[in-house]
Amino acid sequence: MSEYLPGLAGVPATKSNISDIDGEKGILAYRGYPIEQLAENSTFEETCMLLLDGRLPTHKQLEDFDQRLRNNRRTQFHIRDLMKTFPSTGHPMEMLQTAVASLGMFYPGNECLTGADACGDLNYIHNMTVKIIARMSTIVAMWEHLRNGYEPPEPRKDLNYAENFLYMFTGKEPDPLMAHIMDVCLILHAEHTINASTFSVLVTGSTLASPYSVIAAAIGTLSGPLHGGANQKVLEMLQEIGSPDKVEEYVDSKLTNKEKIWGMGHREYKTKDPRAKILEKLVDKVMDVHSSNMNPLLETAKMVEKVCEDRLAHKGVYPNVDFYSGILYNEMGIPPDQYTAIFAVARSAGWLAHWREQLADNRIFRPTQVYTGEPTRDYVPIELRS
Ligand code: COA
Repeated sequence: MSEYLPGLAGVPATKSNISDIDGEKGILAYRGYPIEQLAENSTFEETCMLLLDGRLPTHKQLEDFDQRLRNNRRTQFHIRDLMKTFPSTGHPMEMLQTAVASLGMFYPGNECLTGADACGDLNYIHNMTVKIIARMSTIVAMWEHLRNGYEPPEPRKDLNYAENFLYMFTGKEPDPLMAHIMDVCLILHAEHTINASTFSVLVTGSTLASPYSVIAAAIGTLSGPLHGGANQKVLEMLQEIGSPDKVEEYVDSKLTNKEKIWGMGHREYKTKDPRAKILEKLVDKVMDVHSSNMNPLLETAKMVEKVCEDRLAHKGVYPNVDFYSGILYNEMGIPPDQYTAIFAVARSAGWLAHWREQLADNRIFRPTQVYTGEPTRDYVPIELRS
């Protein structure tokens, strides 16, 4: 193929059996299971296993995996010391990328990716997977305390993944409803076929770089506002708009200036993102309990959706996963600049599933290009140049 397609739109870059999207119908499935059923019935831990191993685990398998996650939550003190040297004004995604990359120095051992049987050490691959998923949430939660000048709480083994994350993040006993909502948010963000950050997992993984480098590369890719960074932008946008009566003027002025409305549109979905539908229902559920704080944000968001439907539906632009998630995180007391880091915590499961799939049938990525520069020519000495 010599035709160049900007953004590689529609170009298959891999074969995968991890997840699938029907963008016209608004369907997302992990390993064949519709996202709605997973959100309703599964847990983040079980969804991780489904993504990683390709099947729903038995009771015993889930218990073992969960226990391994619980046992791996603690990070070395050196990592905490390193994080204390980061500027408190640094963005959590840059902190996360740096901290995860540094894990490779504190927990070395990717030798088994460099031998003749490069990708055959399944034990190593499983261990790395557990270590990274378990520690991602610890690092994000620790940072919330460290950047505010406090010592973070230690992880707790008696709590599930979502509960422990909320406990470590807020320092308070997790509210059961909010812990359940965090669990569903983690499931919804865990995987999404071959998007930009997952593509970077495949590219970095294909060089047999360490899994820490692979995940650090993906975190960097996710951080941009056209990808994971949009959830923070949505909340800031809703706060800037302030109330439903200002929505129409705001949206029209953005569209006139050819600017994007955050949380709207998706390369794959030409209808409302199924994850946005689930999140909207969760927002409504939380509204019943905590109506006072959320009302203005939610009402503004619903009006943005309505006005955008009127202005943008003909382009297939509808709310995506980032549109409602921030409203929920805001209700949990999580600051907006941490939203993308939470996305990364969840997505580490999908990234690692793709890393494993890549290693199982690896060939280094080396695409080609359409050269648009000068033809080969002779070097011009500096005194002859005009
Ligand atoms: N607000 C306003 N218009 C939008 C829009 C948005 N959020 N998203 C897409 N459009 C419009 C584009 O302006 C374009 O219009 P045109 O054909 O008149 O030029 C058309 O819809 C196609 O959009 P395009 O940007 O080419 O689609 P893409 O597939 O390259 O980009 C996104 C997809 C997600 C990057 C894009 O929709 C976007 O920037 N959304 C906002 C950021 C966001 O929420 N990202 C999170 C994704 S999960």
